[in-house]
Amino acid sequence: MSSYVIIGTSRGLGYEFVRQYSSNPANTVIGLVRNKAATDKKISEDADLKSRSNVHILEGDLVDYASLKKAAADAAKITGGGVDYLIANAAFGGQWGAYNGLGKLGADPERLAKELQAYFDVNVLGNINFITLFMPLVLKGKVKKVIALTTGYSDIPFTNEVDVASAPLYSISKAALNMVVAKFSAEYKKHGVLVMAVAPGIVDVGQFVEATEEQTKGLQEFMGKLLKYAPHFTGPDKTPDNAVRLMRGVIDNASIENGNAGDYLSQLGNKRWL
Ligand SMILES: NC(=O)c1ccc[n+]([C@@H]2O[C@H](COP(=O)([O-])OP(=O)(O)OC[C@H]3O[C@@H](n4cnc5c(N)ncnc54)[C@H](OP(=O)(O)O)[C@@H]3O)[C@@H](O)[C@H]2O)c1
Repeated sequence: MSSYVIIGTSRGLGYEFVRQYSSNPANTVIGLVRNKAATDKKISEDADLKSRSNVHILEGDLVDYASLKKAAADAAKITGGGVDYLIANAAFGGQWGAYNGLGKLGADPERLAKELQAYFDVNVLGNINFITLFMPLVLKGKVKKVIALTTGYSDIPFTNEVDVASAPLYSISKAALNMVVAKFSAEYKKHGVLVMAVAPGIVDVGQFVEATEEQTKGLQEFMGKLLKYAPHFTGPDKTPDNAVRLMRGVIDNASIENGNAGDYLSQLGNKRWL
C-alpha cells in the first residue's frame, strides 16, 4: 500500500516504526542502520518481525555520504522507484552535555567544540544529505511526506517557559534541524512534498542509564519542572509503542493543505510537548 524509508532503525523509536508500519503486509518498510548484521540478527529473533517479508534492512550512516547514496539506489530497486514516507529518525545524543547548561560546558571549550561538531555532523548535515539523496524517490512516491524526528527541547517558547538549561548541544542541533525542515519545505512544497518535524514526547530508550548521581539529581529537578508544565505527566514512557502510535497519527493527519508544511509538532499534534 505504502512505502517507508526510516533511518536509525536498529533500536528505540526507529525499530518501533518498522514494527508498526510493517504490521500491514501491503506496506514496504526499509530500515537504514549502521550495523546491518546486528539488526538482521535482532529481527531474526523477534517473534513479530522475523517472518515479515516486507521489512528490508540496508546499511546507512548519516556521516557516510556514500552509504546513504547506495541505500537510496538500493531502496529504489526494492520499491520500484518511489518512496511514500521518508522518516529522518536517527540522531546523535551524547551523554556529555546532556545534564549541564552552556555556562558549565563552556568551561571546556575544546571538548565543547568537538561535541557540538558531532551533533551537527549527524543531526544537521547528516539529515540534509539523507533528505537530499532520497528526495528524488519521494518525488516519485504517491504520498510525498518527509518527516524528521525533533524534540520539545528544540522549541524556544518551551525552553523559556520551563527554564530548560540542560541538553543545550542536542537542543541547538535539533532547533537547526527544524530550520532544515522549513528550508526543504520551502523548496519542495510546490512539488507537493510535505516536509515537517514531529517529536515523540519522552520515551525511555536507555538514555538515562549512564547518569551519575549528580546528573540523576538534575534530571529529577527537570522532571519536577515538567510536572508544573504538564501536571498529567507521570514520567517517561517505558516503551516506544505509544509514542510511535501517536506520531503516526500526527503524520497521517498532516498535510500541506492543513497548513503543516515546514512545521514542527509534538506527538499531540500541537506545540505542547507532553
Ligand atoms: N526517546 C526520547 O525521549 C526522544 C525525545 C525527543 C526526541 N527523540 C528523537 O527521536 C529519534 C529516535 O530516538 P530514540 O529515542 O529512538 O534514540 P535511540 O534509541 O538512541 O536510537 C537512535 C538511533 O539512531 C541511530 N543512529 C545514531 N547515529 C547514527 C548515524 N550517524 N547514522 C545512522 N543512524 C544513526 C542509532 O543507531 P546505532 O544503534 O547504530 O547507534 C539508533 O538506531 C531521535 O531523532 C531523537 O532525537 C527521542
